[in-house]
Amino acid sequence: MKAFFLISLTLITTSLFTTFSFSHEASEASVKTDLETYIVVVEKPDGLLESKLHDWYTTFLPEATSSLIPNQQRIVHSYHNVITGFAAKLTPQEAKAMELKEGFISARVERPVSLHTTFTPKFLGLQQNVGGWKSSHYGEGVIIGLIDTGIKHDHPSFFDKGMPPPPAKWRGRCDFNGKRTCNNKLVGARNFIWDGDAPVEAIPHGSTDLPWEEAYHGSHTSGIAAGCPVEGANVFGQANGTATGIAPRAHVAMYKACAVSCYDGDLLAAIDAAIDDGVDLLSISIGPESPFPFYYDVIALGAFRAIQKGIFVSCSAGNDGPYPSTVTNDAPWILTVGASTIDREIRATVKLGNNVELHGQSLFQPKDFHPRQPLPIVHPAAISNNESAAVCEKGSLKNIDVKGKIVICHMGQLRIEDKGKEVKDNGGAAMIVFNEQDDGYTTLATANVLPASHISYKDGLVLKNYLISTQSPTATISFQGTLIGKSQPAPQMASFSSRGPSTQSPGILKPDIVGPGLNILSAWGVSIDEATNPFNVISGTSMSCPHLSGVAALIKSAHPDWSPAAIKSAILTTAYTADLNGNPISTEQNVSATVFDRGSGHVHTLRALNPGLVYDIEPDDYIPYLCGLGYSEQQVRYIVQRKVNCSTPTLIPGAQLNYPTFSMVLGAGDQMTYTRTVTNVGRPFSTYISKVLSPQGVAVKVMPSVIRFKDLNDKASYTVTFTRLENVTRSSIIGQGSLVWNSIGDDGYKVVSTIAVVFV
Ligand SMILES: *[C@@H]1O[C@H](CO)[C@@H](O)[C@H](O)[C@H]1NC(C)=O
Ligand SMILES: *[C@@H]1O[C@H](CO)[C@@H](O)[C@H](O)[C@H]1NC(C)=O
Ligand SMILES: *[C@@H]1O[C@H](CO)[C@@H](O)[C@H](O)[C@H]1NC(C)=O
Ligand SMILES: *[C@@H]1O[C@H](CO)[C@@H](O)[C@H](O)[C@H]1NC(C)=O
Ligand SMILES: *[C@@H]1O[C@H](CO)[C@@H](O)[C@H](O)[C@H]1NC(C)=O
Repeated sequence: MKAFFLISLTLITTSLFTTFSFSHEASEASVKTDLETYIVVVEKPDGLLESKLHDWYTTFLPEATSSLIPNQQRIVHSYHNVITGFAAKLTPQEAKAMELKEGFISARVERPVSLHTTFTPKFLGLQQNVGGWKSSHYGEGVIIGLIDTGIKHDHPSFFDKGMPPPPAKWRGRCDFNGKRTCNNKLVGARNFIWDGDAPVEAIPHGSTDLPWEEAYHGSHTSGIAAGCPVEGANVFGQANGTATGIAPRAHVAMYKACAVSCYDGDLLAAIDAAIDDGVDLLSISIGPESPFPFYYDVIALGAFRAIQKGIFVSCSAGNDGPYPSTVTNDAPWILTVGASTIDREIRATVKLGNNVELHGQSLFQPKDFHPRQPLPIVHPAAISNNESAAVCEKGSLKNIDVKGKIVICHMGQLRIEDKGKEVKDNGGAAMIVFNEQDDGYTTLATANVLPASHISYKDGLVLKNYLISTQSPTATISFQGTLIGKSQPAPQMASFSSRGPSTQSPGILKPDIVGPGLNILSAWGVSIDEATNPFNVISGTSMSCPHLSGVAALIKSAHPDWSPAAIKSAILTTAYTADLNGNPISTEQNVSATVFDRGSGHVHTLRALNPGLVYDIEPDDYIPYLCGLGYSEQQVRYIVQRKVNCSTPTLIPGAQLNYPTFSMVLGAGDQMTYTRTVTNVGRPFSTYISKVLSPQGVAVKVMPSVIRFKDLNDKASYTVTFTRLENVTRSSIIGQGSLVWNSIGDDGYKVVSTIAVVFV
């Protein structure tokens, strides 16, 4: 859903959009308009030393004499981890000419990619000195690398009081123009944005001469993952409390790859560097604009290189929901995170002239808004047939009499804050924004410039019915502050959260998991209300991803030897699927969510720290899987960075990967058998019994149905056969269920694998 997509992005762009033209074009635009940044992939000659790579890359550049710009300014990034190759400024002719050079593999123009909490630790079951935080040492010793927009290094969330130094293996650095230094919380900060002639050697935040200093997305995500506790964090007094990251003792390293826009060449360089520096986890709240094959998707490529080095990778699923098959960052070696709500609302209640009350949200909660009488309502969509007026776009209300009135704006594709500015500029007294049908009950608490409330689609219908029922409709808004546990069922899917099934790999269930992503408070670059510490409330899968990165850091701290796949398995098999009222987690329409909406469910931090069994995957196990996707040996080789033979070992279908969930497409009469191997990480001498909740229309048989383990780290395999039943009437084209391994005894381990079926 595009309107929300803009939330995470436009909060960044608002102040910059008009003034900042992207530097790729800025510096030499007049003479060299043909130059674009190409990502060039080459073959590494046998025996070439790592230190000689860059020099060798320069041999692919055009002859210096015929060059438009000197060759030393051509190479933007020199890669060595994720791919063998470089990013360089070239004309199409020059790129073409390179094809003749020996060792050349491919060249393409870099692509744009998109950027897609006082309270959330408690919602995730984390409290001071007990349970999850205590047993995981608050994430101590773990370094989370964030690929993002930079960081406000002097924000109180990144102070290092009581933090130990980073582990000795840390090789990262801080590039703050020599002026600013890192500390034990923020242990690294590097920049990968090309600025005309040279990469900018500074993290832009706080420096006065760089135009993208106001991109606070990266501060927000870093604060969610690992911010240290800051008391009295709030905006306009709302969501007040101690703001803390999910892993408050983990270290943060920022790799700035985005400013107003992001390009995948910079992203690749950032991941390359993070791998060198020795991060333990990567948190990437950025995605391609649409799903790509994995060999063509730099985040998938970078993440593969990362997991080969034992680095866990968590990514946002995308903000293109609620539509099917919109999920991105869907490679099986990535944790793909969707967004759901928390049970907090910042309530702004609309009271109509007929006394009907509609509960919406607004972060701005003015104390001095007490009109003597209900205000007259004006509904621009009913007066003007111009769509810009219906959504209260800038400049659209100047011929409409909104003075002193309460203005009704449709949601459309526009930020609520911007609608509010237009209403205020034209003398409107207040604003009500109601959702389009697709966004249902997902409402945003935004920092409006006037009294306002964002209400659901259903409440919008009530409002519209009221408008046609009376000649002179009126309303007022009252502000109820921050309420816990009163809102819609929670967790509930946020409408914008991208949905499965995965287009690239239908044999893997995506998204994997959901976590808090709606109206999340975290660190910000400036104080929105000019009164308190700089925090802001924003929404997106950009916000849910770092929650899961924080959870992964806690698991890594508790179990330093676990592989990325084992950590993911722990998160997926312990997720919960019922909301706080005990009903199935619902969608933005308040109907039960499917497995393609919510994946395995909502993260359960405590259980994820102690899952009993894990489904582990070695990096090489992905090779038969990748071959099975129909990729050529060359394409697979590009991902795994070594020669592969797709006939040995035999290819496997996606659902045969040792993944902690099952996803398959079943045609008439189909029967599929898959094997899984579980590793005992719970207790020695334990016994597990399988229990299946079969999808409607599918018979599921597990062999054996009892598994016994003697020692810790013992492995055991089982097979599971899925048979499509033709004699059962199905109510849906998708089927969902689960396969659970329950331990016998007091441990109460419950290892749940979600089953997703598409019938064709
Ligand atoms: C926020 O909470 C703290 C501690 O409970 C309290 O002292 C402070 O006054 C609160 N601030 C606001 C703006 O409500
Ligand atoms: C609608 O209003 C906008 C803003 O005032 C204006 O730019 C646009 O031309 C109008 N469109 C039509 C079709 O009149
Ligand atoms: C949403 O669904 C729940 C459970 O079915 C129900 O109790 C609640 O009233 C519904 N909320 C709305 C606003 O329809
Ligand atoms: C790949 O493996 C198959 C089966 O072992 C073998 O026949 C084939 O020659 C191998 N291909 C290459 C290029 O090595
Ligand atoms: C459907 O067919 C399966 C296998 O052929 C059989 O085991 C099952 O009892 C049948 N179910 C019904 C409702 O007839």
